[in-house]
Amino acid sequence: MKQTLTDRYDRTIDYLRISVTDRCNLRCSYCVPPTPFAHMKHTDILSYEELIRLVRVGVSLGIRKVRLTGGEPFARKGLIDFIRELADLEGLEDLAVTTNGTLIADEIQTLKDAGLTRINISLDSLKPERFAKITGKDLFTEVKRTIRGALDAGLAPVKINTVLLDGVNGDEVEDFARLTFDHPVQIRFIEYMPIGKGSGPEHSDLQAPAITRRLEALGPLTRVLRSAYDGPAVRFKIEGAQGEIGLISPMTNHFCATCNRLRLTADGHLRPCLLSDTKVDLMEALRSGADNEALASLFRHAVAIKGKQHDLSGHTVNDMMSSIGG
Ligand code: 5AD
Ligand code: SF4
Repeated sequence: MKQTLTDRYDRTIDYLRISVTDRCNLRCSYCVPPTPFAHMKHTDILSYEELIRLVRVGVSLGIRKVRLTGGEPFARKGLIDFIRELADLEGLEDLAVTTNGTLIADEIQTLKDAGLTRINISLDSLKPERFAKITGKDLFTEVKRTIRGALDAGLAPVKINTVLLDGVNGDEVEDFARLTFDHPVQIRFIEYMPIGKGSGPEHSDLQAPAITRRLEALGPLTRVLRSAYDGPAVRFKIEGAQGEIGLISPMTNHFCATCNRLRLTADGHLRPCLLSDTKVDLMEALRSGADNEALASLFRHAVAIKGKQHDLSGHTVNDMMSSIGG
């Protein structure tokens, strides 16, 4: 019989997001601090072997979906081989990656052949110069090639993550949304969260209600029904469009009631919630010889202490977004 992980609030936890590295080749202003900062030491990072072992334990307990994040996951050497190994794990039904898309334009088919099911690409501007200003690197063309390649390879659905910031890219909502007319992409507008140690603003007014009004001006919107791997996005289609729009609203809409995830940091800690610094140390256990049952107990513990919902008004999160994986 298949196992399931269920928390105190009757949520089934079947999704593990793994940050494979806290390093990134970009420097998005809202994500990383403007001045040099310390990275995790290589020896403090879970090896691929350790990761596979932890995912196996997770899958034996009820994890069905894994997403690899970073930093930038492809900034870590050997990721494609790791994807191939993960894809072979029995019981894992869905294997996705969230990437900035700058390092894999020539690898899309290899990734698909390796067993990757889906891809989310972060892109905050469609203007090359603005892209360079936000990220610190002039790599817009690479990201565009990656998106094109993913569409051509049929890595569907291709999702584009766009964090909206007043005064930075707020004027591009319509341009991003219009991409859905001609391309089968899902544009996901993410409300900016004032957390971590980036140099983003304390607040952004570009939140779901205002975005929805602007989208309505482009044509009638219809809601798209949720599917199994949706996560917190509320999905819409503009009449006549091929693609979809997703709104992810951590600030204006508490979606905690349907949360199905745990996060594993590159240095081996399970975080029950993105927006809380509570962690369960798997690394210590792993490296002191814990057996699989002991690791399974730590997974169950992380699920057991998962909070009911986040409260962004009351506190900030200390760890950097690039080390938690978004
Ligand atoms: N608020 C909202 N989204 C963020 N991301 C990074 N930092 C923040 C933030 N402060 C997004 C990235 C990426 C995803 C992993 O998380 O743009 O798409
Ligand atoms: Fe890198 Fe993503 Fe952070 Fe940008 S938002 S610096 S691409 S981890």
